[in-house]
Amino acid sequence: MKFFIDTANLKEIQEAHDMGVLDGVTTNPSLMAKEGIFGHDNVMAHYKQICEIVDGDISAEVIATDYESIIKEGEALAELHPNIVVKVPMIREGIKAIKYFSDRGIKTNCTLVFTAGQALLAAKAGATYVSPFVGRLDDIATDGMALIEQIVTIYGNYGYQTQVLAASVRHVMHLLQCAEVGADVVTCPLSVITGLLKHPLTDSGLEKFLADHASGNK
Ligand code: E4P
Repeated sequence: MKFFIDTANLKEIQEAHDMGVLDGVTTNPSLMAKEGIFGHDNVMAHYKQICEIVDGDISAEVIATDYESIIKEGEALAELHPNIVVKVPMIREGIKAIKYFSDRGIKTNCTLVFTAGQALLAAKAGATYVSPFVGRLDDIATDGMALIEQIVTIYGNYGYQTQVLAASVRHVMHLLQCAEVGADVVTCPLSVITGLLKHPLTDSGLEKFLADHASGNK
């Protein structure tokens, strides 16, 4: 299973990278805005900085919503670095654009996916990744994890190469359930990745080991 970090914060990206377990990064316009990154040149420069930290797929989302503009914006993003994945929303024009990009070897991430039907369309268009949003479904009292499982099953039935990138992963249990149902990738905040480290018995056990070791030095 691949771990992507879902942020545009360079410090957090660096920290996750330094742990040695990071496979890629996802961003979205809200995450860029949260870091105060606005304007074409600043946005492009920021993506380049992320690519310099992480040697893995970096999703950069288009703002355009019509076909011609999505193509123009996506091609410019893809030219930034070979690791850029053009993130395209699940809309009719987006699906057309994903087909265009996949025919030309440009990697894509189909985002804002909330149904298995949408995921099937993304796979048929040749998306590299599909991003079903687990947490946002849970937020409206719908089982986000059931959607991940359904997509994994459907893709498996037909051998689609599109990777299931579970997004909107909010906590450790989400991540572990994604692993159980066979998601290819999770993208989540740094706190979810570091959350995997924690267990009180690990902390108390280590404390005792160190104390016992130190007692021999007295
Ligand atoms: C996915 O690519 C999105 O950026 C993200 O996972 C959304 O997460 P949220 O629902 O916590 O905002």
